[in-house]
Amino acid sequence: MRHPHTRTTRRRVLGALTAALLCTVGLTAPALAAPTDEPASPAPADEPASPALADGLALTPPMGFNNWNSTGCGADFNEAMVKGIADLFVAKGLKDAGYQYVNLDDCWALPARDANGKLVPDPARFPGGIKAVADYVHSKSLKLGIYTSAGTKTCNDAGFPGALGHEYSDARQFADWGVDYLKYDNCNNQGVDAKLRYTTMRDALKATGRPIVYSLCEWGENKPWQWASDVGHLWRTTGDISDSWGSMLSILKQNLPLTPYAGPGHWNDPDMLEVGNGGMTDTEYRSHFSMWSIMAAPLLIGSDLRKASAATFDILDNKEVIAVDQDPLGKQGAVLSSEGGRWVAAKEMRDGSRAVALFNERGSAQRIATTARAVGLPAAQAYTLRDLWRHRSYNTAGTIAATVPAHGTVLVRVSADTRWAKNPPAVELGLDGGSLVEAGKAVSLTSTATDRGRTPAQRVAVSLTGPAGWKVEANSPTTSGALPTGRALRTRWTVTAPKGTATGSYDLTLRAAYRSPTGVRAESVLPLAASVVVAPPSGSSYLGDLPWLSTTNGWGPVERNTSNGESGAGDGHPITVGGVVYTKGLGVHAESAVEYYTGKACETVTADVGVDDEKDAYGTVAFEIWADGTKVASTGVLTTAMPAQPISADVTGAEVVRLVVTDGGDGINSDHADWADAKLSC
Ligand code: GLA
Repeated sequence: MRHPHTRTTRRRVLGALTAALLCTVGLTAPALAAPTDEPASPAPADEPASPALADGLALTPPMGFNNWNSTGCGADFNEAMVKGIADLFVAKGLKDAGYQYVNLDDCWALPARDANGKLVPDPARFPGGIKAVADYVHSKSLKLGIYTSAGTKTCNDAGFPGALGHEYSDARQFADWGVDYLKYDNCNNQGVDAKLRYTTMRDALKATGRPIVYSLCEWGENKPWQWASDVGHLWRTTGDISDSWGSMLSILKQNLPLTPYAGPGHWNDPDMLEVGNGGMTDTEYRSHFSMWSIMAAPLLIGSDLRKASAATFDILDNKEVIAVDQDPLGKQGAVLSSEGGRWVAAKEMRDGSRAVALFNERGSAQRIATTARAVGLPAAQAYTLRDLWRHRSYNTAGTIAATVPAHGTVLVRVSADTRWAKNPPAVELGLDGGSLVEAGKAVSLTSTATDRGRTPAQRVAVSLTGPAGWKVEANSPTTSGALPTGRALRTRWTVTAPKGTATGSYDLTLRAAYRSPTGVRAESVLPLAASVVVAPPSGSSYLGDLPWLSTTNGWGPVERNTSNGESGAGDGHPITVGGVVYTKGLGVHAESAVEYYTGKACETVTADVGVDDEKDAYGTVAFEIWADGTKVASTGVLTTAMPAQPISADVTGAEVVRLVVTDGGDGINSDHADWADAKLSC
């Protein structure tokens, strides 16, 4: 783990967090909110806007950079970095794309104030002081942000000064330096009421007369969405993000229901971006960026752009996605459905169009579908559908659907405009079967290319390609002269991975080339993954010893036969639940899913499950066993205090068995979960 002090902080606050977050989020308007928690009932999208700070700041979600997710308090966090980021904002076109704030996080100051009680920048990191950095950033027409805590000290164990009791003089100092943005953290708050602490700093910032965007960072502990719309411009809704799929997913799920509370000048903040930091795939980072945009979240780049790949820049610089985030209507998108890890979320845009995210939470491709009417568009003969990652426009008769790759997001913008006919029809691609391949054995697949447009797709030709050396044969026609609305071209294929192909994931690509009625060439592309697998051994085996198909984990990798150590592979401890030590099992961290190929040849899964004793307190998780698409066993929420519970599931006939650990509904902190003695019998 990169920032051990952050974990310390988490432990300190977790008592309150657990209490606050175990409760269901109340969704009434802030003015009407009851003092206690009420059951969730989605508020209508057109709920009256909450009062906001009438200072004209952050009318769209703030965009910029913050060093924390890449450097923490490491030596790389210094003046050269800040200047380098400002330079790259300009040179790489990110400034033109809307990124504006260059923000310093914790560790910029010396531990002690000077004789006059003033904050002192660390001379090793900022030899010219903060004013010089601000001047540099301003010379590029960018803005500078700074950080401190609404406590006696910041979150770092080195004990940098916090602003509690110094609000007015610290705010004055920030303003004198030319600071344009303050992130105000929650550590060492001495138990002083949060509303009081955060309101005092609001007033102190206002008293400076300088426009300063004010970012509350109390991790959602006090439900700031219910009271902070006229305190700050944005408020963190969750604990800290980390650079993993599980962490991003857990935060996404906590922030999505808070839709009614966001609006111009007051935003939900699900924490900064991890795009480019290396712990997720580019597909996962595109999902992260897409969903943050659908949620009208602040877009604060969290990777060191001086080392970023071209793919990272491509994601962060996608202006069509940024336009979703920055839409001036300022609505946070709402979830329309979320069954089976198939999420549909839609965001109303000022021009009447809807941004629609088809987000696949699962580790294998799934079809996700909705309609123009369901996302709130008026009835029309046809709609324009713009793919915001492929940058292509189509017409649709109303269906918005795609096979979405594992952990992927298809992000589109759909309008009921009159110009739809100039675009080719949308052709939806699908592939049945063939995602699991045993080397040397032919598998059958069926592809479909379906016209979802109002106009016919003409001269349609589909192709399927696999890795070099793989045999891909079409067993039925791959072309069609014309496909009218709703009609599909179905093609049967046989795919064979060469004998000896190593287990793992391999790319398959399905394409359809076609023409619109006016002769415009168009193409649909579906990137897919095939997993090369080996048949499960017969008899009873420990799952900790078997090869898995895929894993996702909240912190660090899944561990075999030890607990989860949060960081690199092999850093766990002996699995221990309720004082009992187990030599076999899986050590995971919520949110987690571990998939095994069982090839319809196995019968049962058994384990003793619980939170590992190594987390002194507050771990809360729930265990589930899935056989293909069906949940076949589950526990309730288990805590660190509880002994291991037996779980057993009938998985007869399943091709894939999935072991899932959820966060128990309260975020993933301390959620070290063990599948002790987990066994599969086949
Ligand atoms: C807390 C915050 C983080 C970061 C660190 C700095 O954990 O939530 O975003 O600012 O402190 O110490």
